[in-house]
Amino acid sequence: MKSDHLQALLHPTSIAVIGASNNSEKIGYAVVHNLIESGYQGDVYPINPKSEEIQGLKAYPNITDVPENVDAAIIVVPAKYVLGITEDCGKKGVKALLVITSGFSEVGKEELEEQIVDTAKSYGVRLLGPNIVGILSNKENMNASFAGFLPLPGQASLISQSGALLVAMDAATYTRGIGFNEMISIGNMSDIQFSDLIEFMGDDEATKCISLYIETINEGRRFIETCRQIDTPILALKAGSSKRGAAAAASHTGSLVGATKVYQAAFKQAGVIQASDVNNFFDRTLALTLQPSMRGDNLAILTNGGGVGVLASDAAERFGIPATEIPQDLQEGLMDYMPDYGAAKNPVDLTGMANTERFHQTTKLAFSHPWVNGLVVIICETQLLDLVEIVKGVHRAVKETGIKDKPIIVSLVGGDSALEAGRWLIEHGIPAYNSPDLAVNALAALRDHGRYGSPGPVLTSSENSNDSQTAREVIAQARERGRTGLTEIESRKIFAAYDLPVVDTRLARSEEEALDAAQDVGYPVVLKIVSHDILHKSDAGGVKVGIQNAQELSAAYQSLLKNAKQYKADAVIEGVAVQEMAAEGTEVIIGSVNDPTFGPTVMFGLGGIFVEVLEDTTFRVAPVSNSEAASMLGEIRAAAILEGARGKGPLDREALAETLSRYSEMAADLGDDIAETDANPCLVYEQGKGVKIVDARVILKEV
Ligand code: ACO
Repeated sequence: MKSDHLQALLHPTSIAVIGASNNSEKIGYAVVHNLIESGYQGDVYPINPKSEEIQGLKAYPNITDVPENVDAAIIVVPAKYVLGITEDCGKKGVKALLVITSGFSEVGKEELEEQIVDTAKSYGVRLLGPNIVGILSNKENMNASFAGFLPLPGQASLISQSGALLVAMDAATYTRGIGFNEMISIGNMSDIQFSDLIEFMGDDEATKCISLYIETINEGRRFIETCRQIDTPILALKAGSSKRGAAAAASHTGSLVGATKVYQAAFKQAGVIQASDVNNFFDRTLALTLQPSMRGDNLAILTNGGGVGVLASDAAERFGIPATEIPQDLQEGLMDYMPDYGAAKNPVDLTGMANTERFHQTTKLAFSHPWVNGLVVIICETQLLDLVEIVKGVHRAVKETGIKDKPIIVSLVGGDSALEAGRWLIEHGIPAYNSPDLAVNALAALRDHGRYGSPGPVLTSSENSNDSQTAREVIAQARERGRTGLTEIESRKIFAAYDLPVVDTRLARSEEEALDAAQDVGYPVVLKIVSHDILHKSDAGGVKVGIQNAQELSAAYQSLLKNAKQYKADAVIEGVAVQEMAAEGTEVIIGSVNDPTFGPTVMFGLGGIFVEVLEDTTFRVAPVSNSEAASMLGEIRAAAILEGARGKGPLDREALAETLSRYSEMAADLGDDIAETDANPCLVYEQGKGVKIVDARVILKEV
């Protein structure tokens, strides 16, 4: 089913246009016109029941009347006819449909859309759309769309969920000088998904960067796995940042999760580079298309202006590639090409005395130095300089080094001559931007790609052992009783089945049992009410901490029962949990949710105000390895606390990362059943002293 159908979609040898027209105001006219005008070399078959000839081509009343084979069909008739036409295309043996027609799931007509997809599938036909502009391909000289012209040729390819944005970007390729090989409008994604096209384009030598405009993704986990399998850089501009569904979430983690954060985490795991806005999307596409990725953190900045050098340094820090001092030998070499009052540390200020020769020599020196992983050259326009000559010198320097595996980016700050020099550079393979921060940002995209390393699967479980059978039995018993909120005892059993370090807890059904349990656990202990009717125990006065002896335990037992009855008179009390009193430690929260797009997703944050007020959290699609979990610990803003702040020693990050990884396995493994979980608080102790989960909460999916 896979690639020959996508081959027919993107590189068809023949195309039928169903709804082709001679009326120049119709989309069916534009599509035929565009196919002819763009120089498409395959056969074009206009289909129209009323005309024998369309724009000089022989027309057929129905696709089934075409005597030759047809690879792809573009559908431009009103929605109500599309189902029947899909059936005809299936009978004809068409391999791929481009359904331009609107009026399906985007206006609530999901059923009709599903019927069309089912019909297409029953004939083994793949369907792009519906609700698309079409496909623009420079490779095939094929404008199979109602956008007016093919984009400026180039080596990026765009897949866009917005048709209007695609058309606008098509036009902007010329003003910005950023070229595209293919532009594909993916529309409602009823059949063909981002993953299908990414997979196909990953093998295409002509595409050096796959740029995605995304509103939603279907099959999120497949998206991550697909992107991980390919080498070509993938850049995503994601629209929509609402906290969908968060308000309705019952657990703490559920209320903290935001669709944006999960998407960002998923992109990171997928090795997908992100763009912040449309301009940034273009800028980063340009860099990813023209330059190799940056394989280390060492950035050198060369400039003729002190101020722009400082701005570039600021940007470098902001975008995660801070410019550190360059090695002494390189500094000494560079000093030969600047006056005494220049600066060679980094940024390298060649001063206003920099000329073509000096830019040429210093670019060559810096770019060829093994310490340098990426170079930014910033040129300020001055009355003395011929900017085109300067950039030619920079370009020549790069060529002379023969180096092809590290990136160079140029910023030209100035007026018309800066623009002209920038255009020259882009045409000769070096990205150029009109401000230092844009240049550094573009290099940061190349660094992101370099950091993602070699492709491979990510969402795989680690070597940890677990007892999922026990966990599933606990879940089955709760379901038998018609419950989705598990008690603390049940939740702990599940956590313990995944070797998570939960504090020692016993269930007592009477005061005597509680006294015996406390004896076993050892004073001091904590008492907690156990009732599936009371999920938030503290609010119900259902928790007593620091119980030192039998006398205090008896009193606490009585008051807990009384408080519970007062809080909810008809609450079914299953007993009381007698729990080891954990020593004081730093509070963190670990949790999981079942994201609608990506499935089980794990969250980490520091407890208290850090998560509640500052929302200082980080996410990953589960499961994650120990090392991925360790990198999550460094991502929160309050990461320094884990490293040991205010005179305290470092905390046991190793044990915490391992706990987080095991936790993520639990979330992934039980993902079909579990909606949300929390380990809150989870206490982290000094290095070597481990982690303790004090409270465990599991909420099952509704069935
Ligand atoms: N087989 C072949 N041809 C047919 C059939 C059929 N079964 N039925 C009708 N036709 C012909 C019509 O006779 C007409 O040709 P004519 O001009 O010679 O009479 C032609 O097909 C088109 O049919 P119309 O009924 O005239 O439909 P119209 O062109 O008005 O609209 C369209 C069809 C364009 C598909 C419309 O329904 C639609 O969906 N428009 C929106 C498209 C869109 O915006 N897509 C998303 C882009 S994304 C973005 O945001 C930009």
